[in-house]
Amino acid sequence: MNRIENLLAQLDKGPPAGQEVAKVARNILQFLGNRDKPSIAVILGSGLGGFEKRLTDSIVCPYAEVGLPTSTVAGHAGNLVVGKLQGKTVAVLAGRAHYYEGHDIQTTALAVRALAVIGIKQLLVSNAAGGLRPEFTPGDFMLLTDHINMMGANPLRGPNLDALGPRFPDMTKPYDGEIIDKFVQAGKSLGIDLHKGTYMALSGPTYETPAEIRAFMSLGADAVGMSTVPEIIAARHAGVRCAAVSCITNVAAGLSDSLLSHDEVKEVGNLAGKRLSDLFEQTIALI
Ligand code: HPA
Repeated sequence: MNRIENLLAQLDKGPPAGQEVAKVARNILQFLGNRDKPSIAVILGSGLGGFEKRLTDSIVCPYAEVGLPTSTVAGHAGNLVVGKLQGKTVAVLAGRAHYYEGHDIQTTALAVRALAVIGIKQLLVSNAAGGLRPEFTPGDFMLLTDHINMMGANPLRGPNLDALGPRFPDMTKPYDGEIIDKFVQAGKSLGIDLHKGTYMALSGPTYETPAEIRAFMSLGADAVGMSTVPEIIAARHAGVRCAAVSCITNVAAGLSDSLLSHDEVKEVGNLAGKRLSDLFEQTIALI
């Protein structure tokens, strides 16, 4: 039995959550047929929409057809696209399941777990976030060096999927130093400055109050958002190396005179889209 068959067989014998991961992984494998399996996965947040169009020889797996949850957020597609980019086989998750949409926290990590079974080694994530540091302005990028999970939920809650990883995974290095260095190198070659900082994940869907933002600043957050952390936790559990970039779409609540709106978040994200896509593509060339 090869590695994937062995993992699938173990998941089949385990808890229902693992059987579901196996089912999605088998569906994706069926779509792939005898094509190369991806070694890198990319999750597109606001701003990176359209990145999947850069893949060549690509195959599109609609989320609904492989058993992945479809996103209800306007502007978030729901396709897994696998193809070639910079000589690597890359899986792009165009659209993600957010916790605030009402999905179980486990569901928000299902795609990453299925891709880990298929054999991805690296996960690159983008998101939209509010900036807490005075030097952050909308349109800036922040490479995550660490995170604070304030969602009040963890995707690994429930019976452990022993086939994927340990019950109590280490989280000392959620973001991989080598991939971070490649992002910095890619940024330099493209003339894109990257901040570094700690991302705090919140459940949403409300944006924060000014008092919350003051509290989160004192806790060490540099940016706040509503995604990414569940996927990173699931990936680290399965031994996948991770990196993530926040597109700072707005100054966090109470730190400027303006109110927050999803339209502003989308607009800044879309304007940053090409630069962020260039940054991800160049990083993929280097890793
Ligand atoms: N808060 C939470 N999530 C966000 C924000 C924010 O200010 N901006 C974009 N996503």
